[in-house]
Amino acid sequence: MKNSATIAGVVAIVACFAAGPLAFADMPGPDAAVLWHYMTEDSPYKEWGFWPDHQGMQPGRAPHGPLHKVYVNEKALNSREPPVQYGAIQVKESYNKAKELKAITVMYKVNGYSPENGDWFWAEYSPDGKVKSSGKPRGCIGCHGVRAKNDFITVHEFK
Ligand code: HEC
Repeated sequence: MKNSATIAGVVAIVACFAAGPLAFADMPGPDAAVLWHYMTEDSPYKEWGFWPDHQGMQPGRAPHGPLHKVYVNEKALNSREPPVQYGAIQVKESYNKAKELKAITVMYKVNGYSPENGDWFWAEYSPDGKVKSSGKPRGCIGCHGVRAKNDFITVHEFK
């Protein structure tokens, strides 16, 4: 009896060690190239969902282009109120009027990355994944900052 309890304990501890690093390896750090790999290879963003109040292609405003789609991952969708959970990602595809993909901008919620601005990591890519800007760009934060109460998110209203 005592032995099997000990074995169960050891198994649990080993399982924790084995699962721990894997769980961390699951989400990328605040690095635009690694994030691109994650959202196109490990967890392709086109398989994610949309905010219930912002489905599919929608008209957009400057500077993002006339049409866009905003894909959001599980962690974002499971967030019922602001701020969204750490690990939440929003991927915005910007299209021109001819519906050609022109740019991809991303907001990724990283614990401790930027506490004064909602802990968002920001990135902008060309359609083929070339990094145009990333990190804490003043432009992204300044404009989205007017929505700080909504966790810097523009296309979705938390009710
Ligand atoms: C001048 C204001 C402005 C700037 C600068 C700006 N955005 Fe946005 N952003 C918006 C608006 C407005 C929307 C809503 C969609 C639309 O109208 O195109 C939006 C939507 C988004 C979304 C979809 C999720 C959401 O919050 O609604 C992402 C992701 C995003 N922006 C990322 C970025 C990144 C990354 C940068 C910097 C490289 C940036 N934005 C710079 C105004 C801005």
